[in-house]
Amino acid sequence: MFYPDELVEEIRDRNDIIDVISSYVRLQKKGSSYFGLCPFHNEKSPSFSVSADKQMYYCFGCGAGGNVITFLMEYENYNFKEALEFLAERAGIELPQQSLSEEAKASWDLKTRLLEMHKEAAKYYYHQLKSEHGKKGYEYLMNRGLTKEIILSFGLGYSTSYPNDLYQYLKSKGYNDSELKESGLVTISEKGVYDKFWNRVMFPIMDTNNRVIGFGGRVMGDGTPKYLNSPETKIFDKSRNLYGLNIARKSKRGYFLICEGYMDVISLHQAGFTNAVASLGTAFTMQQSMLLKRYTDQVILTYDSDDAGKRAALRAIPMLKEVGIGVKVLNMKPYKDPDEFIKHLGADQFEQRVEQAINGFLFEIEVLKEQFEMNDPEQKTRFFSQVAEKLVGFSDELERNNYIEAVSNQLGISIDALRKKVNELGNRIGYVPKSETKITNAERKKMEKADGNKEAQRILLTWLSDEPSVYHKIKHIISEKDFVEPLYGRVAQLLFKQLEANEVNPAKIINRFIGEEEDAKLVAEVFNTKLKSGLSEEEKNRAFRETVLRVKKHSLDEASKKVQDIGELQAIIKQQAELKNISISLS
Ligand code: GTP
Ligand code: MN
Repeated sequence: MFYPDELVEEIRDRNDIIDVISSYVRLQKKGSSYFGLCPFHNEKSPSFSVSADKQMYYCFGCGAGGNVITFLMEYENYNFKEALEFLAERAGIELPQQSLSEEAKASWDLKTRLLEMHKEAAKYYYHQLKSEHGKKGYEYLMNRGLTKEIILSFGLGYSTSYPNDLYQYLKSKGYNDSELKESGLVTISEKGVYDKFWNRVMFPIMDTNNRVIGFGGRVMGDGTPKYLNSPETKIFDKSRNLYGLNIARKSKRGYFLICEGYMDVISLHQAGFTNAVASLGTAFTMQQSMLLKRYTDQVILTYDSDDAGKRAALRAIPMLKEVGIGVKVLNMKPYKDPDEFIKHLGADQFEQRVEQAINGFLFEIEVLKEQFEMNDPEQKTRFFSQVAEKLVGFSDELERNNYIEAVSNQLGISIDALRKKVNELGNRIGYVPKSETKITNAERKKMEKADGNKEAQRILLTWLSDEPSVYHKIKHIISEKDFVEPLYGRVAQLLFKQLEANEVNPAKIINRFIGEEEDAKLVAEVFNTKLKSGLSEEEKNRAFRETVLRVKKHSLDEASKKVQDIGELQAIIKQQAELKNISISLS
């Protein structure tokens, strides 16, 4: 970072988080915190909290969290420097003019360089599209029905037919060969230097913060490959990003559309479906599913209506269900994909198809049915057996009955007959608890325990930041080293220093984690673990004692696994024994 820590902290301190966030989100006071609708995911009742004491925000729905600086970074898509500049100006603090020292330059990590390079490249491609060279590309996009506005909002561009135009340009901007190689935008070998993309219309791929992380390029016409995509790089992980999510995340529709192609996303957005996203030329992944879960609980799959599209939908459905997202499937027939559908039938008809989209499970049944010859009694029986087998998979009785009813309606068979078949099968093999099938009981116990240990550490850190006076009751028992979860350990180290100096300031701690992607959020979570409210004095005492003991015990257990000699082990055993008689009390 370019600004000294003290300056960053002064700027943060002089901008009250309630004031700043109030200008973006309507906040209402509730107890010691303020609540409002989370600006980072869709919701109907407020789970976004802002604490004046802690000068932090945290969303109990999607886990977004941080201090006033990270809020602006997330909301306005500012980078750290921009957020600081904004806040400095707001508070009337003058920032020192800095020129980059050699040292600072060297410390820029490759990632930052690659991100900047991609931004440059996107600007370059866009410029080409608008210039005389790019006429062909521009006309191609116009012929496909795109407007000037949509081309601009997706930042579409054009790569020329010269072999290494982009390379020359990026060189002139100061990027060296090794950085250029890392970017995947060029290839450098004995045979020469070539741009990866040439004579293609270009689709910049952005992350949720609107940073360009890669490109897709389409031939204009019938060449192969039809689409060429950036390789995976330090900044581009195809399995963790979704095309269009940077825009779709702001959609107010309450559900997302997932489609297959770049052009589908763009056509849908142009038709008003700004909630459309696509995976990046690869199959939908579990990480993408988890990414979506931050923004929505409901998706509609709008995959191509061909066999490949169907297979893709069948693969995606369980991944979405697994994270708790409801899935429906949209029927695009007689058209191949959303782009073609909208071109022929328009947005209103597409909206109707959205309303008619069928439940993901019923879609699975429909596809299954196609594999059987229903005129043949034997095949038909086998089909129903397979349907019954799938229905047995719903462990919740109410849910199972709802599906039995829906399936019998769909297939036009008697509900009683189907229920009987399902129950027979269920009694024989036992209802299979969903998604728990893969995990054995022993594994689950272990996971729960590990989670419990983590939670205890979080609770204690929240407790200490909410009621710093508690620190003196436990400092003879617990030290920062007892927070064995690595991230929590780093937080504890900073918090204990503040506790010792009697100046607790969680928002300042967050400064340290800005720019480490998810970590600032995880730290915000650490300070916002829900403590049970409405406990009696005695219950509170007991909960506190249990939490402290759990953290300590886990820390000693972990330490005992790493001992080098018998002396150390004896010391740990002694401490473990002492835990039983230790007195811990809030009062
Ligand atoms: P248009 O023909 O431009 O409308 O594209 P489409 O989206 O209808 O094409 P298609 O259904 O063939 O492809 C869907 C997505 O798969 C594209 O957006 C690309 O991300 C990816 N894709 C298609 N063709 C290729 C290819 O040749 N190579 C790679 N790597 N990806 C491809
Ligand atoms: Mn298409």
